[in-house]
Amino acid sequence: MDFSSDVLSYDERAIMSLRTLYRQFGYTQYKMSRFEEYGLYAENKAFLSSGDIATFTGPGGRLMALRPDVTLSIVKNTRDDGELKKLCYNEYIYRPGGNEYKERMQVGLECIGDIDIALIAEVLMLAQRSLKLLGDCSRLDVSHMGYLSGLLQSREMTSGQRAELLRRISEKNVPELRKLCAQYHLDGDFCDRITAMAALQGPYGEVIAKLRRISVNDETEAALRELEELQGFLTLLEADSEVSFDFSIVNDLSYYSGIIFQGYIEGIPVKVLSGGRYDNLLRKFGKNSGAIGFAIYLDLLERRAPAGKMINIALPKGRIGEKAYAIFSASGYECPGLVEDSRRLVFESPESGVRYFWVKPSDVAIYVERGVADIGVAGKDILLEYTPDVYELLDLGIGKCRMCVAAENGFADDQERTLRVATKFPVIARSYYQREGREIDVIKLNGSIELAPVLGLSDVIVDIVETGSTLRENNLEPIGTIVDISARLISNKASYRFCHEAISGLCEKIAAQTNADKA
Ligand code: PRP
Repeated sequence: MDFSSDVLSYDERAIMSLRTLYRQFGYTQYKMSRFEEYGLYAENKAFLSSGDIATFTGPGGRLMALRPDVTLSIVKNTRDDGELKKLCYNEYIYRPGGNEYKERMQVGLECIGDIDIALIAEVLMLAQRSLKLLGDCSRLDVSHMGYLSGLLQSREMTSGQRAELLRRISEKNVPELRKLCAQYHLDGDFCDRITAMAALQGPYGEVIAKLRRISVNDETEAALRELEELQGFLTLLEADSEVSFDFSIVNDLSYYSGIIFQGYIEGIPVKVLSGGRYDNLLRKFGKNSGAIGFAIYLDLLERRAPAGKMINIALPKGRIGEKAYAIFSASGYECPGLVEDSRRLVFESPESGVRYFWVKPSDVAIYVERGVADIGVAGKDILLEYTPDVYELLDLGIGKCRMCVAAENGFADDQERTLRVATKFPVIARSYYQREGREIDVIKLNGSIELAPVLGLSDVIVDIVETGSTLRENNLEPIGTIVDISARLISNKASYRFCHEAISGLCEKIAAQTNADKA
């Protein structure tokens, strides 16, 4: 049978060309059922990007699942007999998206067995070639879990603190990392190293000297040696030119052990390829082999936006947005008419190379996460509540307020009863009371939260307090502060890579301007 390319869909053509590539390097096609016992995923929830799994009752009453992931099935079903297995696959997976489950096509490969550096380089080269087959302009960014873990192990801290630092590294969140270092009483030298590492990105030649300076112990040194060796092999394979290093790429330490990587294609706002060395997962299955692999999300490739020349900036409508624009404007990103014209929502300034959008404050992070805006200004309250997958680059020092618990004057908490909490921020409220070990009933409201305790709808509220006058006028008082809030400059992760010069240049100017404003 011979099919001409116009008979095949984009997905089918992509699958065929990727499979042909993997076959050339000795990978055999792996087929599997789309059903698995639910227990496989229940025991390895942290390995999955979402804990929501579509389940059904199978024959004999067994709880079954529609496969949300391919790697776990391969690991479970592969024999640990010392022989190297090189497998590739194209399979549908089922994950929640919005209010329903989505069927997504994943193409990938896995190597299970004795993994040496030559094989790691081969897998990276195949990841890079896969990206090239799918898009004209792509990037593969490499990081090393051993290096990150070595640095975090170099100081005494709890596992919760380590996880929190890791999360801030993944956001390139230098301001928050500094705050956390102070809060956890970590020394200045460690703070300098960890913030330098979070910010670091670029080709091997640019980052290696910095990584050597940041290195602190045997674990970071071993990771460095592996990166150096890897670079040698990548050069031999002529795969080094589009591979960069970015240590804000992090993964779960209990599954991933060494090199990890992510691939981006210009015009697609999120990572399209994700992979790494996951020996620790095999240990959980009682297997001694090593493992490395990657997966490509083919469904993401359908909606590609043409590359624009301007930086798209989402500003929150209202006072904070106007203050933010004043900083942008004073930093050289002026856009005439933006503040005066109250009806228009989009403003362009070809001279400054920027396009601004006015959006509802709580929507800024959505525009940025989805790549419609390259950067934006969002309140820390929104970032904590919705945890969008974005970089948090700067604290703009405006819109300062506090996330507080407040109650009627003289309120006494009866620990015997479930506390009723009214709020616009259920995630923040739940995680705060979870830390406090207090059982609560969250009542989600959309505004005028202060009314709830006054009318007896709730015992307390979790809300933003700026001047405190709304509380006072309603006979309420703050009884605890959860977190300080201010406006942050956030960036889409793909834009940060493909418009790096423009975005990092803008960040530097904005940082200089906010520092000058503070002085
Ligand atoms: C916010 C917040 C408080 C008020 C606090 O409300 O929810 O109600 O500001 O400010 P203050 O301490 O200076 O009095 P917002 O104006 O956003 O309106 P909302 O009540 O409809 O959410």
